[in-house]
Amino acid sequence: MVKLDVNGRPEEVAAEEDMPLLWVLRDKLGLTGTKYGCGIAQCGACTVHVDGQARRSCVLPVGDVHGKKVLTIEGLAQKPEGGTVSSPVRLHAVQQAWLDENVPQCGYCQAGQIMSTVALLAANPAPTDDDIDAALSANLCRCGTYPRIRRAVHRAAAALKGEAP
Ligand code: FES
Ligand code: FES
Repeated sequence: MVKLDVNGRPEEVAAEEDMPLLWVLRDKLGLTGTKYGCGIAQCGACTVHVDGQARRSCVLPVGDVHGKKVLTIEGLAQKPEGGTVSSPVRLHAVQQAWLDENVPQCGYCQAGQIMSTVALLAANPAPTDDDIDAALSANLCRCGTYPRIRRAVHRAAAALKGEAP
């Protein structure tokens, strides 16, 4: 049994310790927003956060995540404070910026792009274009949405600082 916290919920999963976290999330917990692209840490589609750090879940044994906090794309949007079960969720500023800039094309890479961006903005609230390119260059997008991703990162950074985009 592996114990971990996923999106704020304690989970106990029957899995071999060397099972990649990606398959625990997708196959054991039904969290299919995190995608499988390459399986060898080269594309970024499987990016999630572990204790606040962006990690490639396709090559991360779940045994290494025992007792840690995992955040996936499904956990980014939050219920408003004091909201009820039926209250609509409030999108994370990065998700909202992605919508406002119409970033996705096929969408397959975008959960990974968003999770990497959230980690980038936590470390660097005002990234330059070069910072964005450096931080996201290992998140591949076969549809070539890179210019829109860059614009959305700037938009999200402004929103998180309370500025107009
Ligand atoms: S699926 Fe993990 S980096 Fe490509
Ligand atoms: S939107 Fe299609 S791979 Fe990125």
